[in-house]
Amino acid sequence: MKFLPQLLSLALLTSCLTMTSCSSKKENESDDKKAGIDKTAYGQLPDGQTADLYTLRNAAGMTAQITNYGGIIVGLQVPDKDGKFEDVTLGQDSLSSYVKNNPYFGALIGRYGNRIAKGKFTLDGKTYDLFINNMGNHLHGGKVGFDKVLWTATPVDGDEPALKLAYTAKDGEEGYPGNLSVEVTYTLQKDNALKIDYKATTDKPTVVNLTNHTYFNLTGGAKRDILDHVVTLNADKLIAVDQTLIPTGELKPVAGTAFDFLKPSVVGSRINDSTDTQIKYGGGYDHGWVLNGSGDSLKLAATVYEPTSGRVMEVRTTEPAIQFYTGNFLDGSVVGREGFAYKKRYALCLETEHYPDSPNHPAFPTTVLKPGETYKTTTIYQFSTKK
Ligand code: BGC
Repeated sequence: MKFLPQLLSLALLTSCLTMTSCSSKKENESDDKKAGIDKTAYGQLPDGQTADLYTLRNAAGMTAQITNYGGIIVGLQVPDKDGKFEDVTLGQDSLSSYVKNNPYFGALIGRYGNRIAKGKFTLDGKTYDLFINNMGNHLHGGKVGFDKVLWTATPVDGDEPALKLAYTAKDGEEGYPGNLSVEVTYTLQKDNALKIDYKATTDKPTVVNLTNHTYFNLTGGAKRDILDHVVTLNADKLIAVDQTLIPTGELKPVAGTAFDFLKPSVVGSRINDSTDTQIKYGGGYDHGWVLNGSGDSLKLAATVYEPTSGRVMEVRTTEPAIQFYTGNFLDGSVVGREGFAYKKRYALCLETEHYPDSPNHPAFPTTVLKPGETYKTTTIYQFSTKK
């Protein structure tokens, strides 16, 4: 048949466009090694909208599963020292579980990551009132933060597949001023790194502090606590807090304290140091560290090593601070993957961001975004192993 070759290529093209799976696989590459991005339906939200689940895969076999509901990282499969792939995050089994009760597992956080004291701030002479949802303060963007909205997703295929997520928060949404257009791009790199690029613009002066709230447990499967993980933080100073975890304004040198992670330190070794008031207030680690190095170039912020699996995670960021949270508030009430209950300190979070409560601390690096400016930050979580 004369038109057969054209028909065949048309059929191939159509299948690539409609199959929801289109990869950059070259001939002779085995299926399990192909890089690309797949999309499947994830479920329906209470308001009738539907969410999707995207699986990004690189040629080394690492996968990242991300839903456009809350931009949540649902899973991250990375190899251990023997090449065994396991999930290194805490997560839930279904969309409905994420909707019902999610302590921010894997989620995008905004418009303001971490706390704003008493849910109030003043900008250009006007005071704004925000939703109070944590010990008399505003936490992680309020009642319906960016972790609970449906983002518009655009998959980008390639050797380093990416998922672009877009959301516009309305003027007045959760009490914040300005229509804020946000774009977050997750890219799974060839070198087993997940890069997150954040971008935002506004039509009125506002405050912005975006981050991702993945809970990590490098043992794989989160079957036990993270007290044996070894953490290094490139930070000389701690953002001291009060009993409600609001910064006092003091930036405290960490040297010689339970907060000194300048050298690799076992998480559990000083976490219960009851003589340290900061440890008492946080119930362990739940603080921002001021990262060493100035400017907004990418710098190594943190390294985590888990000795039994040999997994290593390095965190690089353009942000000035990192919130190191050791899952002190997990209490087994959230049942995650495979019906497994996540208990106290079964994960650690490394949330790269500006300082908490910056809108009320003029001495802290500013989080104000004005019309005509573009908010731009990048954070990279890179995985490797050592024996
Ligand atoms: C906060 C914790 C909070 C956790 C989950 C962290 O960023 O610092 O205090 O419990 O998020 O909401």
